Amino acid sequence: MEITYDIRYVGVNDHELDLFEGQYEVEHGMAYNSYVILDEKTAVLDSVDARFGDAWLEQVKAALQTRQPDYLIVQHMEPDHSANIAAFMEAFPQAKLVASAKSFTMMKQFFGTDFSDRQVVVKDGDTLSLGKHELTFLAAPMVHWPEVIVTYDACDKVLFSADAFGKFGALDVEEDWACEARRYYVGIVGKFGVQVQNLLKKVSDLDIQTICPLHGPVLKENLSYYIDLYHTWSTYSVESEGVMIAYTSVYGNTKKAALLLAEKLEEKGCPKVVINDLARCDMAEAVEDAFRYGRLVLATTTYNGDVFPFMREFLSELKERNFQNRRIGLIENGSWAPTAVKAMRNMLEGCKNLTFVDTTVKIMSALNEESAAAIDALAEEICAD
Ligand code: FEO
Repeated sequence: MEITYDIRYVGVNDHELDLFEGQYEVEHGMAYNSYVILDEKTAVLDSVDARFGDAWLEQVKAALQTRQPDYLIVQHMEPDHSANIAAFMEAFPQAKLVASAKSFTMMKQFFGTDFSDRQVVVKDGDTLSLGKHELTFLAAPMVHWPEVIVTYDACDKVLFSADAFGKFGALDVEEDWACEARRYYVGIVGKFGVQVQNLLKKVSDLDIQTICPLHGPVLKENLSYYIDLYHTWSTYSVESEGVMIAYTSVYGNTKKAALLLAEKLEEKGCPKVVINDLARCDMAEAVEDAFRYGRLVLATTTYNGDVFPFMREFLSELKERNFQNRRIGLIENGSWAPTAVKAMRNMLEGCKNLTFVDTTVKIMSALNEESAAAIDALAEEICAD
């Protein structure tokens, strides 16, 4: 596949994967992208997951035709991209490796060798000329590993963005970009908003006409749409108006409360209500929703003097991703000593700029007139401007 006259796509689609990075469901598979630049010298950018090594090498050879690669540029050492470095170096014994010093340290850890006689170590701002394609390497630490570099090709105005601007999903499946890019971003990069902001600032002066990420489609049109979303996500800003209700329920009584709240919110004209049963939904989707909407209601059973396990998991997922800048409502259920509101507040302690609404709802076993009225009051407050 031709990206520009001199740049070829040599990535692969993975429809066999059960969980990406050992935890994320990928219903529509995953793409591991790799690129070849053809010039006086030739360069390959990144490899692919271990299971696709042979297919990738065949594609690299086909793109190069009779030529040999001069460089393998390693932007990121996570194994979904780095697994075939050793195979590449064996297949092309004259090729050199271009990477950050930290990447070479990781290579030694992963492969037992850092290819010391074939290294080109680059740091932020360094350049490499392939002929008319002059590549500039920019350090992108913690987007989302410390060794990451991204690469700008001034000739074709292409930013090779490593994991940034990536998404879940193979490239032979048509789907909305934002939905699976957001779930990918929040899950994998979400904690590192400051570092993503640093990278966006670093590339803001570049004339970029194409973004070539390591996952998901090559982006060629309307780039400000994608960049604006990255600004929203990395500053933990509200992307969509609405309320996300996250609940756990053992016998259905807390669920009834969550559904009643959703009904009340809709009656009051709330623009969007999203409801997630944390025991049954995709946790990554629920975490994504919490970061997408500006208002979040947590409803859970008291359990072993704490909160129900799926709520505990959800809250720790939010906290470790620097959850902030949101309005929060709390609902607890318990048959003798409800303590979940206190436990949830404690778990969110340290999250910046959370505003808890005044009304908290206490349910003793099942909804009654009093707790239903409290839900109405909570709906009013969480909805208010
Ligand atoms: Fe796609 Fe961070 O590896």
